[in-house]
Formats: sequence, C-alpha cells, structure tokens
Amino acid sequence: MNTRGAMINSEQKNIIDLVSAQVRTRFETDGSGHDFEHVQRVFNTAVHIATDENADVFIVSLAALVHDLGDYKLSADGKENHRDAISAVLLNCGVSADDCHQVIDIVEKVSFKGNAVLDAPMTTEGKCVRDADRLDAMGAIGVARAFAYGALKKRKMFDPDSKPAVHNSFDAYQKNEGHTINHFYEKLLLLKDRMETASGRAMAEDRHQFMLHFLDQFSGEWSGLK
Ligand code: ADP
Ligand code: NI
Repeated sequence: MNTRGAMINSEQKNIIDLVSAQVRTRFETDGSGHDFEHVQRVFNTAVHIATDENADVFIVSLAALVHDLGDYKLSADGKENHRDAISAVLLNCGVSADDCHQVIDIVEKVSFKGNAVLDAPMTTEGKCVRDADRLDAMGAIGVARAFAYGALKKRKMFDPDSKPAVHNSFDAYQKNEGHTINHFYEKLLLLKDRMETASGRAMAEDRHQFMLHFLDQFSGEWSGLK
C-alpha cells in the first residue's frame, strides 16, 4: 500500500486504530517515560512531519505506534527484539508482509546508538519517525522523561565527579550507567543537529534552548549560587 502524499483511507484508519489499541495495553503501566502517552505524542508529531515531507502517512503511523515494541530499554533481559514483537502485532491487525517489513526496517534504525555512532540512513518515512521520537526526548518533556527513566534505573541525578563519556558503539552506550545530567551531554543536546526534516529542525530549536536553560539553572542551584 503506498499512501505517500495522500490521506489514509478508511481501511488503513481501521488498521491504525487496531494497532493503537494493542500497543496501548502493552505500555499502559510503564513508568520510565515510555508510556502510551509517549507513543501518542510521537505518533502525532510524526504524522505532522510526514504531511510536510509528503511521506507515506500509513507507514509513518504504524512505525510511530510500534517504535518501542521490543526495545532493549524495556525488555526484561535487556535484549532488543523488534522483529518478533512488531510482526506479531502488525500481521495480527491485517498489515501486509511488505508494509510490516518496511516498518521493522524503520524501527531497527530509530534508536540513538551512541554519541560517536552515526545514525543509519533512513527512508523519508523513517526520518519522520526518528525526528518525532527524538523531539519527545527534548524540551520540558525530555527533561521529565530523562529523570523518570533515571529514577527507575536507580541512577543519581548528578555527580560532579563523573564526566560525560564518549560511546563508540551501541554496546558501550547501552552499558553506560552514568547519572542523568550526563545523559544530556551524551545524547539529548546532540539531537538538534541530528534532525533530518525541515519541521523537525524547526521544532527542535525551542526544545534545545529550554534544555540549555534547565541545565544552567540546575548547575546554579547545585552550587548554591541561584
Ligand atoms: P531511543 O530509542 O533513541 O533510546 P526512546 O524514545 O526509546 O529513544 O527513549 C529515549 C529516552 O529514554 C531518553 O530520551 C530518556 O528520556 C530516556 N533515557 C534513555 N537512556 C537514559 C539514560 N542513560 N539516562 C536518562 N534517561 C535515559
Ligand atoms: Ni520512543
């Protein structure tokens, strides 16, 4: 099904609703900032970007909805398993094997893999989803999600003796257990310059400035100067 540059039809709308309902049941109880509301925000932003980019809205919608299924951060064994988790949901909801394949290919490349690791090349649809997911890691919501995730993983908020690290591989990035302020320097502040769509780049500006302001205020309060 190619819905590039077109509105979705009623059959596609039904499939999206079915997938959305299944994803909702999986993420309802998450406390790490990867709850269903994160999925909904990524969905809304990705569809908005997709319209501007003239991308296939059906593929973008599906990929946004399932982008955290099988994610290593949320699995009990810490292993990534997008392929099985996503095909189980999509094929069950009536998505074709070809569309399912396109969605899995996008999701496998969405996650940030380390500050010294280049992002894998994406299709236009993939760029919309990756930018939308990254926008939700920035700004006020990004700050809130970072501390929610850090608390769940029992990370310190800040430790002035522990400096940000360079991660040359996905493995090194995954194994990192540093404090949450370091996460801003190791990932969140780098996202603005990794945006790949015009609307993503525009939205990232304010969110980036907000994080800089937050870090400045945090540092002032930490040292008792503000
Ligand atoms: P990605 O797939 O790129 O990791 P996600 O949407 O799955 O994106 O999750 C990213 C969010 O998880 C981060 O923006 C942050 O809120 C949280 N997170 C991940 N790793 C850390 C960390 N080491 N410290 C604090 N928050 C983290
Ligand atoms: Ni996400």
